[in-house]
Amino acid sequence: MNTKIVQKRIPCLDLKDQHQKIKKEMFEAFEKVYENTAFSGGPFVEEFEKNFAHFCKTKYAIGVNNGTSALHLAMLALGIGKGDEVIVPANTFIATAWGVSYTGAMPVFVDCTPNTWQIDPLKIEEKITSNTRAIVGVHLYGQPFDVEAVQSICKKYGLFLIEDAAQAQGAQYKQQTVGGFGEMACFSFYPGKNIGACGEAGGITTNNENYQKHLNSLRSHGSVSRYYHDELGFNMRMGGLEAASLSVKLKYLSIWNSRRREIALRYQKEIRNEQITLQFQPDWMDSVYHLFVITSKNRERLIKYLNENNIYPGLHYPIPCHLQKAYEHLGYKEGDCPQAEYLAMHCLSLPMFAELSDVEVDYVIDVLNEY
Ligand SMILES: Cc1ncc(COP(=O)(O)O)c(C=O)c1O
Repeated sequence: MNTKIVQKRIPCLDLKDQHQKIKKEMFEAFEKVYENTAFSGGPFVEEFEKNFAHFCKTKYAIGVNNGTSALHLAMLALGIGKGDEVIVPANTFIATAWGVSYTGAMPVFVDCTPNTWQIDPLKIEEKITSNTRAIVGVHLYGQPFDVEAVQSICKKYGLFLIEDAAQAQGAQYKQQTVGGFGEMACFSFYPGKNIGACGEAGGITTNNENYQKHLNSLRSHGSVSRYYHDELGFNMRMGGLEAASLSVKLKYLSIWNSRRREIALRYQKEIRNEQITLQFQPDWMDSVYHLFVITSKNRERLIKYLNENNIYPGLHYPIPCHLQKAYEHLGYKEGDCPQAEYLAMHCLSLPMFAELSDVEVDYVIDVLNEY
């Protein structure tokens, strides 16, 4: 065991150090928004949109109030609604499915693979019906799903592809940054994300000008020209303070993602314990490790042991989407998505954030290896 015993509690995520380091810059950015009274939409949102589109190598980015709205609006921009079905992985955060349900369409849940824990392309086709309109692929935990396999299914059946990149800002699939593989990609800038606003925020990237224009209108009361409302719209604009905070953080995102990769590499190389299974990393992708998820047969025992050693892992996620109470009416039962169900019962998320020190990483590895 590492002799430099870590006294302080090591959580799954801690935002304090990061925000202390950039506090001065952040407060200067807030002051500018304040002086301009540009609190809703406006120049600070436009600046972030331009920079984030550049970061994702897409033509457009549209800032909205959170990632759930991004998914909702993406569905609406595709004309998805009542009577339609949209394929969604069973192993994801529930908001992926909310975006579909809000439109009146039905999410159809597909199991994940046994080793990457991402949507299983081999299980998609059996779920496609004449009502299927789109597939939402989720770059879950920051690791890209098998984009080409899903793209080819979309092509074969004439379906739209939407990326849920809420957890994957800067991740790459075959050296291409996520965000431009489908019609649209949806991002969350919730505070805990790899780039998170000081507040709630989200965004959509696209290379299609028509979608960009439509999304601009939908997020702002269905209006292109003020007080003229062409369709039922929403108030889902991004705030100026949130946008300014994101512009500050975007400058550091690649550095923070590299540090996450460094920590992940150490976990992958140095955790040696037969009771712990790591996520498989295909060589065609480069994860940004929003989460570092592992599985263990007796999860509760492992959590207790980690807690006794001052380590507090997270659970992402304890119930797969198809078995959530909110979707009881869809009639799924245990056994419908066995891999996602196994994962929900056995997963836990190790500490993962850029500010973890090498001593803390050493300590987490040592504690796990002694389990
Ligand atoms: C995979 C995924 N999709 C969608 C969302 C929704 O984003 P938000 O919390 O910003 O609404 C999240 C955020 O937690 C997420 O992790």
